[in-house]
Amino acid sequence: MTMQQVVKVTVNGVSYERNVEVRLTLADFLRVELGLTGTHVGCEHGVCGACTVLMNGRSVRSCLMLAVQADGAEIMTVEGLADDGRLHPIQQAFMEEHGLQCGFCTPGFLMAVYELLGSNPDPSDEEIRESLGGQICRCTGYQSIMRSVKSAAAKLAGARV
Ligand code: FES
Ligand code: FES
Repeated sequence: MTMQQVVKVTVNGVSYERNVEVRLTLADFLRVELGLTGTHVGCEHGVCGACTVLMNGRSVRSCLMLAVQADGAEIMTVEGLADDGRLHPIQQAFMEEHGLQCGFCTPGFLMAVYELLGSNPDPSDEEIRESLGGQICRCTGYQSIMRSVKSAAAKLAGARV
């Protein structure tokens, strides 16, 4: 017998209500129930960071959470970054500085960087490494990601003045 429960969440500013199996992960809820496939699932046990989304402003690994644990929460996924078709400055910076190759890790990185720059607009290299230490990229060697984060910080600072 499967147990079901109603989940009400706001994702990227849109409210959703769904009756879901209690064992459904938040990652599968976003991808399968809501069709938001920008959130990627890699390791499925909290190691790679590909599934990172923001829940009430804090980054979480959506593969490690159940959808029912997100009941009442505000979720932001990578689909929430662009504004009316215009890339977010963090996305723009990753594109310009080649912060991605295959792109599998990128949604998780973008959300982690969004969280970092929201609380620390001008992070040092050390702070960037520290805060992104849980995000794994198999392609880039990380140098272009470092450049992307610095470029994103500069773009956001420019947008504030
Ligand atoms: S898929 Fe969630 S951390 Fe790897
Ligand atoms: S760009 Fe391929 S895993 Fe990061």
